[in-house]
This record gives sequence, structure tokens and C-alpha cells, in this order.
Amino acid sequence: MPEQTPVIDPKRRAAFGRRLRAWYRRNARDLPWRRTRDAYEVLVSELMLQQTQVSRVVTYYGEFLERFPTLADVARAKPARVMEAWEGLGYYARARNLHKLAHHVTDGGRAEDRTLPADPDALRALPGIGAYTAGAVASFAYERRAPLVDTNVARVLKRVFAPMIDVKSSRGHRAVWQIAEAILPRTGRATWTHNQALMELGALVCTARVAHCERCPVRAVCRSAPKLTRRAARTVGTTQTR
Ligand code: ADE
Repeated sequence: MPEQTPVIDPKRRAAFGRRLRAWYRRNARDLPWRRTRDAYEVLVSELMLQQTQVSRVVTYYGEFLERFPTLADVARAKPARVMEAWEGLGYYARARNLHKLAHHVTDGGRAEDRTLPADPDALRALPGIGAYTAGAVASFAYERRAPLVDTNVARVLKRVFAPMIDVKSSRGHRAVWQIAEAILPRTGRATWTHNQALMELGALVCTARVAHCERCPVRAVCRSAPKLTRRAARTVGTTQTR
């Protein structure tokens, strides 16, 4: 069967992006990794957040960076010390991979000034970095116009743009990445906000258990939300196009 590329109406895409980012600016949580553009610090946060709750990561993140302020510090440490600092976060493969990556990038800690690449493909070539983490480091540290999809983002994009997609199938997975790419804003700076906002919407509003459509900023352009009454649609400034 031919590949099905979801078609997204440009008006829907633009309204979605505008609403999403405006909502983020007013409602985002102030999280420590959102205050940095240091690629190493962004990477540590994203690795920690992969399997661990935000509140728990907040507790350990600062302490980890105090112990290991740079990638070279991680590389020079014994793997056991890095694992120790990871204690409480679980899934120690992430710490082991971080050590491997640090060793690789900084030549065992000798090349202090070497840092992570900005290009998503170059990032993906590093040990332990998958498509999601590559997109996260590229957009959150370097403000590159790169898409990212994790479970939360996949759920949001499916609900808003393509409810028929089965995100667990490889075809559906590809389709969600295509949507993520197709709806990126024009600039890297706006992409930073856009990607953080997608994650925030998935965490706070469009959650796995309940889609809180009644307080969703993109409800008017969402294919899964219950229809708004004409009056309500006028209030939010959009007529539904479905
Ligand atoms: N989970 C993964 N990355 C995140 C981020 N940047 N902010 C909040 N939760 C996240």
C-alpha cells in the first residue's frame, strides 16, 4: 500500500501553532532545563525525563549538574560514580549511555571544549541518542527547526490532526513524525517554544487518561474534541472546519 501522508490544512496548522504557543507563554511550568541552552544540560534533562516523572527529575537534576558540570567531567569520572549520581532515577542504562557518549564526544575528557553537535542526524549517530532525543537537543539547546515526537507528543498530534492513525504501527509512527515536521513554525526560536508547548500540552491538558478539552487552547482546531457550539466557536474566534 502506498504511504499515507496526512494532509494538513495550512490554516489549521497556523491556528494550532499560534494558539499553542500563546497558551504556553501563559501556562508553562518554570522548569530548570527550560532556563538553559547548554547542550549538555539539555541532554541530561532529556535523558532523565525519558522514564522518570518531572517532579522527581527536578529533585535530582541540579545535584547531578553540580557533581558533573560538563560533558568532560562525566567522561573523566568512573562509570560507577555517574551511576551513583543517577541513583533514585532508575533505568541505569541511561547513565551508562551518557558516560559512553561523553567519552566519545570529548575523547575521554581530554577535549574539554568539544560539545554536542546541533544537527539531528549527527546527534542520532551518538551512543544512546534516538530520534526523540536528537530532536530535543537540536531544538531546545540550539534552537534548530527540528521536530520531536515522544509518546505525549504523538498522542497530541494524533488527536488534533489525524485520529485515524495507529501510532503504535510503524506506518502510524512515520505519519506522526511527518505531521510534527509539517507543523513546525518558520524559525528555530519559535520551534523551541512550539516543541516545549507540545510536550506541556500533553502533560497538562491532553493527557493519556483524560483529554481536558474544556480547557484546551487548540480545541477549536482539534479533530477529536467535541464540537463547540456556534456561539462558543465565535468566542474563541474560529469556525470549525471539519
Ligand atoms: N519531558 C521530556 N522533555 C521535557 C521537557 N523539555 N519539559 C517537560 N517535560 C519533558
